[in-house]
Parts: sequence; structure tokens; C-alpha cells
Amino acid sequence: MVDRHLFVCTNQKSEVGREVAKALKIEIKKQGLKSVTVKGEKRRNRVQTCNCLDVCKNCKKGPGAALVVYPEGIFYGNVKPKDAADIVHEHLGEGRVVKKLVIEG
Ligand code: FES
Repeated sequence: MVDRHLFVCTNQKSEVGREVAKALKIEIKKQGLKSVTVKGEKRRNRVQTCNCLDVCKNCKKGPGAALVVYPEGIFYGNVKPKDAADIVHEHLGEGRVVKKLVIEG
């Protein structure tokens, strides 16, 4: 099974993208989701920073950062560090999209 990758945009002037990436990594560790076993196969959850994801309206021009989760291809926008716990618990843990943060990629 493929690993899951979260790419967080850090192209803002502020440090919000880096803070979101850091908060996600901390939450993944805290919630014990560094790797999960789905249908007997091991899948890791990895967080990386990246450049502009082309959804700047919900990133650079807003209060938070944008990120994308692969392989699902789900985009989240205006994400703040305090949202990390929800994304990790709901999306990575339960496999449910966090609707209030979803944007069109
Ligand atoms: S600056 Fe973050 S998506 Fe463009």
C-alpha cells in the first residue's frame, strides 16, 4: 500500500506553513499514526513542506496555509496549526475528510 504524503505550502510571507507542518508532525506522533496498518499492509503518514500549490487564495492571501494529501488528492486551505489535531485524527486516523477545511484543488 502506498504511503500517505501531506505537502504543506510554505510560500507565505509568514511562518504559518512551517508551523502547520510542525504541528502536523507533532500530532501524528502524539496520536500514534506515524504508520498505520490497513488491511494487513503498513502505510506511513509523511509530512513535507513544498512551494506554491496554486491555491493561493486559500493560502498566501488568507490567514493560514494550504496543503494537499496524497494519494487522495484532497486539498485543505487556510489551515492553522490548531487545525492539525483535527486533520490528523479525522483524515489520517479515521479516513474522513475534514469538510470545513476542504478546498477545490
Ligand atoms: S502561496 Fe501557498 S498555494 Fe500559493
